[in-house]
Amino acid sequence: MKILITGGNGQLGQELQHLLDERNVAYEAADVKELDITNEKQVASYFAEHQPEIVYHCAAYTAVDKAEGEGKAADELINAVGTEIIARTCQKYDTLLVYVSTDYVFDGTRTSGEYMPNDPKGPRNEYGRTKLLGEEAVQKYCDKYYIVRTAWVYGQWGHNFVYTMLNLAKSHDKLTVVSDQIGRPTWTRTLAEFLTYLIDNKIKYGIYQCSNDGQCSWYEFAKEILKDKDVEVLPVSSDQYPTAAFRPHYSVMHLAKETGFKFPQWEDALQKFIKEIDNNL
Ligand SMILES: NC(=O)c1ccc[n+]([C@@H]2O[C@H](COP(=O)([O-])OP(=O)(O)OC[C@H]3O[C@@H](n4cnc5c(N)ncnc54)[C@H](OP(=O)(O)O)[C@@H]3O)[C@@H](O)[C@H]2O)c1
Repeated sequence: MKILITGGNGQLGQELQHLLDERNVAYEAADVKELDITNEKQVASYFAEHQPEIVYHCAAYTAVDKAEGEGKAADELINAVGTEIIARTCQKYDTLLVYVSTDYVFDGTRTSGEYMPNDPKGPRNEYGRTKLLGEEAVQKYCDKYYIVRTAWVYGQWGHNFVYTMLNLAKSHDKLTVVSDQIGRPTWTRTLAEFLTYLIDNKIKYGIYQCSNDGQCSWYEFAKEILKDKDVEVLPVSSDQYPTAAFRPHYSVMHLAKETGFKFPQWEDALQKFIKEIDNNL
């Protein structure tokens, strides 16, 4: 099968490449320079030349706070318009589209339990709104698709919370981290394995959710990241760190265990990741 990864230089795009390399699976990975998903002509000629049979659509605008202001137009163009272009082109070429989305498509008002894939939507920030427009375009135009929602993503290739905490710990002996936002961290490795699992196991097309299992606050996440470091981590309320974009106090999505995929516990995934980056330093 001919595979294309959009947003190939992003943290998920690079993890997927790493995973496919390990498995000796051939693919093309393109980032904005080679394939700007907002450029309809470029997308059309790329598909005509490469004829991908599977697209892992990892290209996205991911600056959640900037999307509320200076990045609003770019966010809409990349996440909504760009995804619609990819969806329509995939349908034209009978290509399977794997679209990665977010828990921010929900309204974030739950205080317990899990968001199910078909629960009512109600995004409360711009990024969530445009990712939902992307989901709707995929559902409208494509017959063959997986929409996979995820959250709190970290991995080897990219800027993320784990690297931020590890870096801050080098110059601080005390860190304060918000303890009133609960979610499920996601190692890009788990997410990449899940995306390929759906295809390899011919799981029914549709909407799925993937993170590591368990749940925690950002404070608990930071404590686990820094458990072997000489730094004190203290809990604070999110009022102390106001952000431009709305963030829910509780956002735990149901994981697609019915597919048979084994979702590693978040602490285990994190410790494996930390060991991997330690070995690579
Ligand atoms: N990170 C998270 O916590 C999180 C949470 C939930 C869902 N997701 C979703 O997971 C997916 C992967 O996220 P990620 O963390 O890997 O994001 P990322 O690291 O920001 O990667 C996105 C990639 O897309 C590229 N890109 C931007 N505009 C493009 C365009 N017009 N054409 C082609 N490529 C373009 C970016 O290039 P530049 O860097 O050069 O702009 C970047 O390489 C996304 O769909 C994201 O919405 C992420």
